[in-house]
Amino acid sequence: MVPLVESLHDRATGTVSHIVHGGRGTDCAVIDSVLDYEPRAGRTSDHSIDRVVQFLADQALSLTWILETHVHADHLSGAQRLKERCGGRVAIGAEVVEVQRHFAGIFNPGADFVADGGQFDHLFADGERFALGELVGEVLFTPGHTPDGVTYVVGDAAFVGDTLFMPDGGVARCDFPGGDPAELRRSIERILSLPPETRIFVCHDYMPGGRAPGWETTVAEQRAANIHYAGLDAEGFIAKRHARDQTLEPPLLIIPAVQVNMRAGHLPAPETNGVRYLKMPIDRM
Ligand SMILES: [Fe+2]
Repeated sequence: MVPLVESLHDRATGTVSHIVHGGRGTDCAVIDSVLDYEPRAGRTSDHSIDRVVQFLADQALSLTWILETHVHADHLSGAQRLKERCGGRVAIGAEVVEVQRHFAGIFNPGADFVADGGQFDHLFADGERFALGELVGEVLFTPGHTPDGVTYVVGDAAFVGDTLFMPDGGVARCDFPGGDPAELRRSIERILSLPPETRIFVCHDYMPGGRAPGWETTVAEQRAANIHYAGLDAEGFIAKRHARDQTLEPPLLIIPAVQVNMRAGHLPAPETNGVRYLKMPIDRM
């Protein structure tokens, strides 16, 4: 069975959320959902989640899995809001524990947070398979951008997170904690060893050159044309990555995003006045 994929692009963060399913009335997974967040007011909203919920209702889909490709730094995960509304299990790769340990050291989250991955309903091992109705998914660990990066392969579709962007967008930055360009290149080679016609769905598109947003490409296209990979040996890839990373600013939402995403999309617990707070660490990011 060839999986069907519905993709929703969030212009505010450049995130693409993917809904993978077997057709009307089947089970589905939602990969990399978005909780909208307005950073000047510290206000969340469900506009992006509403779009996902509407599609699930229109297609009579049952939400089985709410999947994260990694702890994102550029948007807040909508995983828990989506789970509240549609059910499903929230899952990520088991290496999330390393990311949690790192950010717990920076954000000092208190006794309600244990860096053991227990905030997620399931932690995937490398090579683990999971059922999605009649479809079968497989998890490939693809670290390098972050230590917890995974790719979900469902039939002929691979959901690669930030490991690869569209060919004209290149590959993910490697200057976040635990990032490693040599490791990222090995992960890319792992993805690009899938059959050449494999459909690749990326998690972000920043519309280079002002073109329309895109999110679907193939292994063959990436091999031939990815601007940060094609034609480069390992040394050239790493040099290009280092040079580019030195020019990049931190993502606008990195500080709120990692605090929520390391908690599987939960906001920090309310304080005694009933209000939830995010922290701003000084001189640590
Ligand atoms: Fe990312």
